[in-house]
Amino acid sequence: MIASLVLPRLIRTGSGALAEIADLLGRCGVSRPLIITDPTMVQLGYVDRLTGHLADAGIAFGLFDATEPEPTETSVISAEAILASGCEGAAFDGLVALGGGSAIDTAKALAVLGPHGGRMRDYKVPRMVDEPGLPVIAIPTTAGTGSEATRVTVITDPENDEKMLCMGLAFMPVAAILDPDLTLSLPKRVTADTGIDALTHAIEAYVSRKASPFSDQQALAAMRLIAPNLRRAFHDGEDREAREALLIGACFGGIAFSNASVALVHGMSRPIGAFFHVPHGLSNAMLLPAITRWSIPAAPKRYADCARSMGLADEAASDAFSNDALINELRALNEELGVPTPIGFGIAHERWQQLRPLMAEQALASGSPGNNPRVPSADEIIALYDEVWG
Ligand SMILES: [Fe+2]
Repeated sequence: MIASLVLPRLIRTGSGALAEIADLLGRCGVSRPLIITDPTMVQLGYVDRLTGHLADAGIAFGLFDATEPEPTETSVISAEAILASGCEGAAFDGLVALGGGSAIDTAKALAVLGPHGGRMRDYKVPRMVDEPGLPVIAIPTTAGTGSEATRVTVITDPENDEKMLCMGLAFMPVAAILDPDLTLSLPKRVTADTGIDALTHAIEAYVSRKASPFSDQQALAAMRLIAPNLRRAFHDGEDREAREALLIGACFGGIAFSNASVALVHGMSRPIGAFFHVPHGLSNAMLLPAITRWSIPAAPKRYADCARSMGLADEAASDAFSNDALINELRALNEELGVPTPIGFGIAHERWQQLRPLMAEQALASGSPGNNPRVPSADEIIALYDEVWG
C-alpha cells in the first residue's frame, strides 16, 4: 500500500511557547497576520498576551474575534470582509488562529475562501482542495481536534445544516504552537468533550481502512498519552502534566486521522452536531461505546491493540479480553465524565426519529463510514442511531 503523509512545516511545543510567535511568523514569511479568535479568548486575556508579543516585535496585525463554536459559513463570511479590508494599506499575508477547533477551522476555511472566493460548499468532499491558500499558524487552546496538524476543516452550511467536511493541502496549517499554559483554563465540560474527541481520532485512525504504519504509530502514541490523563485533567484542571500530555496526544491524534481517516463515529456524529447543536466531542462520546462494540467483530486485533495502548490490558491478554476491556472503559469514561445520552441532552424523540434517514444519508455522503472496519448500510446506521438514543 502507498501511504501519503502531510504535516505542518513547523510545530513548537512547551510551556511558554506562545512567546515565540513573532519568530515563528518570521520563519513562515508572514509579516501582516490577521488573528482569528473568539470572545472567550479575549476575556481570558490570551488575545492580549498574543498581541503583546506581536506589538513588542513591531508586527502590524488585524483581529477578528467573533468566531462561532461549531462554525457556520456565515461566520467565515464575516471574517472574509475583515480580511479583504487589509492592514495599514496592505493585504494580510497570513492567519493566526487562537482558540479551539472552531477558531482554527474558521481560519482554515478563510485561508481558502479569501484568495479563491466561492462558497464553502464548493470545497467539500469529495473535492480535494490542494490549491495554496493563505498560511495558517494554529495555536490550539483545547486538547481535542488536533486541527493544528490536520488537512481538514468542518464548516456548517447554514442553508441545510450540513456539517461539510473539507479536505486538502490548503487546509494544513503551515505551523503550530502547542503551549499547555493556554489549556489550563479549560472548563471541565470542554476538557471532557475535546479529550474524548481526541481519543476517538486515535481509535478511528488506528482501525481505519486507510491506516498506514505512520498513522498507526501516531494513533497508538496518542492513546498512550490521552487515556491515563483525561480523567486527571477533568478532575484537576491545574494538573499541568496531564494538560501537556493531552495537548501533545491530541496533536498526535490529529496527525493520525489526517493521514489515515476518521470512520463511523465521526460520520454519524457530524449530523447529530449539525441538527441538534451538540458539541462535536460530545456527540462523538455519545456514539463511541456502541459503535466500537458494533465494529469490533471486523477488526478484533486492532481494537485489542487500542485497549493495550490505553493500559486496559497487558500484552499477554487475549484479544477477546482486551476488546471487552475497551468497551467497558469507554462506557465507564462516559459515566465518569458526565456524557449524556441524546435523550439526556434534551433532544426531542420525534425529531430524532424523523431525521434518522437524513442523518444516515449525510453520514454516508461524508465518506467516513466507508473507512470503518465494518461498513454499515443506511439501515444499519439508522439502527445504531436507535441504539444510542437512550
Ligand atoms: Fe473529531
